[in-house]
This record gives sequence, structure tokens and C-alpha cells, in this order.
Amino acid sequence: MKILVTGGAGYIGSHTVVELQNAGHDVVVVDNLCNSSEKALKRVEEITKKPVKFYKKDILDTKSLDKIFKKEKFDCVIHFAGLKAVGESVAQPWRYYNNNIAGTLSLLDVMTRHNVKNMVFSSSATVYGDPAFVPITEDCPKGQCTNPYGWTKSMLEQILTDIQKADKEWNIVLLRYFNPIGAHPSGLIGENPNGVPNNLMPYITQVAVGKREELGVFGNDYKTHDGTGVRDYIHVVDLARGHVLALKKIKDKSGLSIYNLGTGKGYSVLDVVKNFEKANKIKIPYSIKPRRAGDIDECYSSAKKAERELGWRAEYGILEMCRDAWNFQKKNPNGYDD
Ligand code: NAD
Ligand code: UFG
Repeated sequence: MKILVTGGAGYIGSHTVVELQNAGHDVVVVDNLCNSSEKALKRVEEITKKPVKFYKKDILDTKSLDKIFKKEKFDCVIHFAGLKAVGESVAQPWRYYNNNIAGTLSLLDVMTRHNVKNMVFSSSATVYGDPAFVPITEDCPKGQCTNPYGWTKSMLEQILTDIQKADKEWNIVLLRYFNPIGAHPSGLIGENPNGVPNNLMPYITQVAVGKREELGVFGNDYKTHDGTGVRDYIHVVDLARGHVLALKKIKDKSGLSIYNLGTGKGYSVLDVVKNFEKANKIKIPYSIKPRRAGDIDECYSSAKKAERELGWRAEYGILEMCRDAWNFQKKNPNGYDD
């Protein structure tokens, strides 16, 4: 298939471009590089030994998208482009709603005009809010999000669902990611956050590389086995492969489909620290801090539907996630900056 990958220079996008190219798809990337580097795409080329066609464009720029669609004749769009920092979204809601929602509406407008009615969308387990039950199945009701970023995902799911309902020519796959971590085993591409990391694994790897003194563990009085928050961490390469398999639903013209992409296993913050130490033989100093606003006790998936319908299951375990996250950090102490 000829596939447009929006946000393809980013963390999950770059890993997905690798898997798409390895599976023989023809990939074009559009990214405005607001949270990424073109170097990631050069590294993708090193891994796959195939060129990546890249347009440095904003998805809000409808005219430029229109020209790209006219030229490239896509079969499908995998849509990663979006802003994702939870705290920043609370401080800058307009920017998040504009970029993520208006950006997607601009993309949908161009897709409709060029009759490209196939999309795989990056959603998030955040749409379940504080989940009604765990393990979370896809029919678990959506919940109240605690921040504008989460609402953009929830609203975009609704928008895409309504569009597909009104026009059955659309085939849309909503993928709800749990907590992607790790990096390509080559250590060439990985997660490269700007400034102080918000998420657990990049914080741990920055402690390991000596950039930060210690990890702050946000709360140890949650209703979990050791009091720290439990999440479903998933290796980014497994997540990327989930996108390749999701294309099956596009090929089958399946209308609207929804899948969780997680491993089905929950690990606490302290479990992750212990596994990181075991995998990499590096001590991670930490101290207990107050809870972070908006955090929940536990969030982990039932991954059965994706296995049943897509033939997808996570292959990597927590030790490999920790090994590969560290491998990337160690080889690229300053991310993609030399
Ligand atoms: P990322 O920031 O590394 O990648 C997003 C990419 O989109 C970046 O390269 C950025 O430059 C680009 N982008 C943002 N706005 C754009 C715009 N207006 N026009 C063109 N490009 C734009 O993030 P990621 O972790 O790779 O996440 C990819 C997608 O998955 C996002 O939609 C994110 O919300 C979603 N997601 C991520 C996680 C996670 O924990 N990483 C979890 C659930 C869902
Ligand atoms: N945590 C710490 N210290 C840190 C960072 C995180 O103790 O420095 C804890 C959190 O309190 C939580 C766990 O580690 O218990 C995981 O936190 P992350 O920030 O890594 O991930 P979240 O589950 O909070 O959120 C992530 C993404 C969201 C997405 C959500 C569900 O950041 O975008 O998963 O998919 F919506």
C-alpha cells in the first residue's frame, strides 16, 4: 500500500515507518518537526536501507497537504501527528485543541477531497479515564479525561466514528495505545523528549545516563501491590507492528474498528525500576514524592481482541523494553543532537 504517515519523524511514527518499509509498503512522511528531528528519518533509512520520502509540513496547512495528496496518490493514512504532553495541554488548551483537532479536521478535509477514506488513528488508553474495570477491554466505557490532551483523543475518536457512520466508504481503525517504551534494538531510533521528561521510562534512562540525580516516584499509596501506579508498558516495536497488522482491517474494508495495543500485563513504578536495574545492571536511585494530579491506580489492557482479529500480540517483555530503552539512551546521550 502507499501510505501517508503523519508525525512519522516522532517516537512511535519512526518505529512504524521501519516496520511498514520492512513489510514492503511505500511510505511518505509529513511532519512539521515541532517535537522531532529529521535525523530520526535518516536513521530509519540506515535500518531499512530504503529511502524515506519526507515533506516538512504542518497538517494545519491544508493547501500544502492538498498538493501532496495530488502528487502522491495514497491508499491510506496512519495519523500520528499531534501534541502529547499532558501537563502542557493543561497550560495551553487552545494550542492542543487547535493542533490536534483542527489539524485532524484539515487532514480529513483533504483526504475526503482526494477520496482517500482509509485511516489508522493513534488513540490512547487515556480515553478510558479512570477505567471502570481492569483488564480494560475495548467495550469498557470511555471515561472522563483529566486533561485537554486526553480530551483531544476522546473527541477525535468521536469525530472519526461519526464520519464513518455517515459515509460507509470510510475504513477507520482506532488504536488505543497503553504505555509505549523502549526503542529499536539497533539503538538508532528511540524516544527523545525535550527538556525534563514527563514519562517514567525516559526519566529513568536520564537518571541512568547521569543527567538527573534521582527518580521521583509519584505516590506510594495507590491501591496496587506495592502502592505505586500500575501501567501496561509495551515495547514500541511491538506497537509499531500493530499498525502494520491493523492495515488488514483497511484491506478488508471493515468500517470502524477499535483495538487496545497493550501487553495485558501491569507493572508498578517500582517493578519497572527493579526490571531496569536487572536488565542493565545499573542502580536507579529514587525517592517517594507526592501523587501527580490526574494519575490513577492502575491501567492495563485486555489484548485479546487484537490477537483474535489482527493476529497481533506483544513479543517483547519488560526486560527487553528496559534493555532497549537504555541501549538508545546510552548510544545517544543527547538524543538526536550531536
Ligand atoms: P511524538 O511527539 O514523538 O510524535 C508526534 C509527531 O507529530 C512529532 O514528530 C511532531 O513533530 C509531529 N507533529 C505534531 N503536530 C504536528 C502538526 N500540526 N503537523 C505535522 N506534524 C506534527 O509523539 P509519539 O509518542 O510518537 O506519539 C505519536 C502519537 O501517538 C500521538 O498522536 C500521541 O498522542 C499518540 N500516543 C502516544 C502515546 C505515548 O505514550 N507516546 C500514548 C498514546 C497515544
Ligand atoms: N511516574 C513516576 N515518576 C515520573 C514519571 C512517572 O512515578 O517521573 C509514574 C506515574 O505516576 C505513573 C507511571 O509512572 O504511575 C507512568 O507514568 P507515565 O507518565 O509514564 O505514563 P501515564 O500512564 O501517566 O501516561 C501515558 C502517556 C499519556 C497517555 C497514557 C495512557 O503519557 O499520554 O499513558 O495511554 F494518555
